[in-house]
Amino acid sequence: MKPLKHVAIIMDGNGRWGISKGKSRNYGHKKGIETVEKIITAAIKKNIKYLTLFVFSTENWKRPIKEIKYLFNLLERYIDSEIENLQKKNIKLKVIGNIFSFPKKLKLKIKRLESLTKNNTKIQINMALNYGARQEILYAFKKLLKKKIMINEKNISKNLYTHSIPDPEILIRTGNTKRISNFLIWQTIYTEIFFEKKMWPEFNQNDFNKIIKKYNKIHRNFGGLNVRTK
Ligand code: IPE
Ligand code: IPE
Ligand code: MG
Repeated sequence: MKPLKHVAIIMDGNGRWGISKGKSRNYGHKKGIETVEKIITAAIKKNIKYLTLFVFSTENWKRPIKEIKYLFNLLERYIDSEIENLQKKNIKLKVIGNIFSFPKKLKLKIKRLESLTKNNTKIQINMALNYGARQEILYAFKKLLKKKIMINEKNISKNLYTHSIPDPEILIRTGNTKRISNFLIWQTIYTEIFFEKKMWPEFNQNDFNKIIKKYNKIHRNFGGLNVRTK
């Protein structure tokens, strides 16, 4: 088995799935939460230590306000109903991204969730909220310049939201679309990428496990020759 510490997921296809069921885009978002729960369980079973989930991008503000509000509402309800469960299951929740412009009530709930679960050790879920990779990199550069710290790879990595977290070995994008959409561009230079045809609400534990199986068969070179990771 290859080392597998960090899986990142672009959870795409909620809206299209909702519509395909003769319902609304928002119905797809609601169903998507159930997949989140299933995949967290699957990741724990595989002893994965970090799961980074793309929930809301810096570009998602372009959506109709009604959908944005629905997403925020869903997140709030998710926190309310899951906070105890996450604590019980020893799960740490961390936000990556800039939630400054989020509604105050939601921000407070997020902060509370983060502080309550901060010492949990089973798995760390990074929720990417108002996350954009360019914004993240720019932010890191600005911090380095301000502190007059040398700009090099190590120092840039140390100033990203993902500092102290290993780069993801696996990136999954559901929703039958093959692009990165401003997600983790610094961290994924050697990540194995899996584009899934299924929409996020129909993605399941079995699909997740199949990807891990495929990952285990991949020979990773990292630019070298025959470098075998155990
Ligand atoms: C991903 O699903 C979830 C978010 C971006 C919030 P989409 O909402 O992008 O669903 P599609 O891709 O339009 O089907
Ligand atoms: C990426 O999905 C963002 C999230 C899953 C949160 P999008 O649906 O926003 O991406 P594009 O617009 O299709 O590239
Ligand atoms: Mg989409």
